[in-house]
Amino acid sequence: MCGIVGYVGDEDCANLLVEGLRKLEYRGYDSAGLAVLGEKGLAVVRAKGKLSNLEKRLGEQPPRGATGIGHTRWATHGKPSDENAHPHSYGGVAVVHNGIIENHLQLKESLAKSGHKFSSETDTEIFAHLIHDEVERGLGLPEAVRAALKNVRGTYALAVVSENHPGMLVVSKNASPLVVGIGDKCNFIASDVPAILAHTRDVIYLEEGDFAVITKNSVQLSDLAGQKLERSVRRIDWTPTMAEKNGHKHFMHKEIHEQARALTDTIRGRASIEEGDVFLDGCHLDKKLVERLSKIQIVACGTSWHASLTGKLMIETLARLPVEVDLASEFRYRDPLIDKNTLCIAVSQSGETADTLGSFREARTRGARGLAICNVVGSAIAREADDVLYTHAGPEIGVASTKAFTTQLAAFFLLAVRLGRLRGTISQEQGRAHLQALTEVPLLVERVLKYEEQIKQAAYKFSQSRDLLFLGRGPQYPVALEGALKLKEISYIHAEGYAAGEMKHGPIALIDENMPVMVLAPRDSATEPGVNYEKILGNIHEVRARGGRVIAIHSEGDEQVPRLAEAAIPVPQTNPLLMPMVSVVPTQLFSYHVADHRGTDVDQPRNLAKSVTVE
Ligand code: G6P
Repeated sequence: MCGIVGYVGDEDCANLLVEGLRKLEYRGYDSAGLAVLGEKGLAVVRAKGKLSNLEKRLGEQPPRGATGIGHTRWATHGKPSDENAHPHSYGGVAVVHNGIIENHLQLKESLAKSGHKFSSETDTEIFAHLIHDEVERGLGLPEAVRAALKNVRGTYALAVVSENHPGMLVVSKNASPLVVGIGDKCNFIASDVPAILAHTRDVIYLEEGDFAVITKNSVQLSDLAGQKLERSVRRIDWTPTMAEKNGHKHFMHKEIHEQARALTDTIRGRASIEEGDVFLDGCHLDKKLVERLSKIQIVACGTSWHASLTGKLMIETLARLPVEVDLASEFRYRDPLIDKNTLCIAVSQSGETADTLGSFREARTRGARGLAICNVVGSAIAREADDVLYTHAGPEIGVASTKAFTTQLAAFFLLAVRLGRLRGTISQEQGRAHLQALTEVPLLVERVLKYEEQIKQAAYKFSQSRDLLFLGRGPQYPVALEGALKLKEISYIHAEGYAAGEMKHGPIALIDENMPVMVLAPRDSATEPGVNYEKILGNIHEVRARGGRVIAIHSEGDEQVPRLAEAAIPVPQTNPLLMPMVSVVPTQLFSYHVADHRGTDVDQPRNLAKSVTVE
């Protein structure tokens, strides 16, 4: 967790660092701070809470200096406070850190014995002390940081500046992300590309164990032992404006509206309707390899886990291969049955979620082939995978995931068709029909967005509810889970998603006029209402019979469901496996408008963070 940014060049950099941190606030916003090296030496300014508090503290005349580091924090060790805010400094050395130092208590104890006094409760502060001691012993800053790192056990992306070494940033990475941005007579570092995109598009993704000494004219890469390294410079094609709100009140709203475009980008160049097959750049799945597979194991967290539940249905239906889906945090420590005939799929928007990365590694250690479905290019999970299927959703800034979810579903569908074709479970003709339907989904998503005013009215009507139940069957069950997660994340209304058929085994006891129920009740297909539809009609009656208030998401043209609902939201029809990409959109807009109406912090809900890089 946490966001890091840094600059070394000729310009005063305080404002640049603040702007960079603004793009990283999605990584945590418990406090923010920066350290700048100027003619007057090291200046450190920090403030608890959001970046705006730091800006107030910096005032009209922020400290001057052309070398600096900044940090936005998601608290792990020590409560959010001014004292625990980064940078941490000691004797002219300042550090920012993202990660967790596991042996910090022992290190702190031994440093205290030699007279060190600590001013925070963080694990990070020990770095400033360790490095300072090494500098005092006469080491240059790079050697001092290397020496300090030898003592620590844990995860880090670390950036260090020292009064004795003006014009130099020293950074290192182990498990937490860090990129170096290459500028013209200046260089940058950041946890994520949007923080520096306004200044450069040329970046180097650091790998585990990488160490870099950065000045305005050079980037020297080595490993921790000092062995020189070469890493390629990549050109990023995300424009700075892609990371802006584009006139929407919140990033989440913008990202909901971007879904048709994002889905098109996921599908583009991969689905060949003519051939009834899929070409997956970055995935090296061939017939021989796929025939060997005995099962697929998916690991993921949060929204990505919900996408994976739908992915399972897609793969099992189209490719007839058994699929297990685990919450990554559970998978890792349950001694899972994995072997070389397993394909493990890690699904992660950020590609950095610690539990997902850890379980992916676990599966690969046991011999599984590893495929990543990720959004962030060059992220840890993507880098470790044998095969990568990027979702191409573009940067997702709102903490509540929206376009990442729908694009993950599209990626799964492409994969399912590909596997089905390789395994011979779907014919070319069937492949064509499936892909034709998939390419129409972006248009259907656009159509749902046209119902926004109607969805907003329903949201306002139910915005003061204390609890809300979401029900779905078959492919709509994961949508119910995702709908409930979205609502609780951003509106703080207690919400639960349930398989509609399970309602009678518990949740039905809760139903009364104070417990609205959102029912995902599209017809199964254009040609037939289908068994899921018919069964869920029965569930709606059960809710109504107990005084429950129904909000229904139903197929356009359907007359039965709207008659039974207090609020009804139509969605265009498509085939059942594709329907979740369409039907989830009104649940996202519903949650968004409930939260906005309640005045919550939609893009940065309390206690949450976009990318969870701790277990
Ligand atoms: C956090 C985010 C969620 C996200 C989950 C998994 O909890 O707030 O929106 O679904 O992490 O993240 P990932 O990047 O692995 O998809």
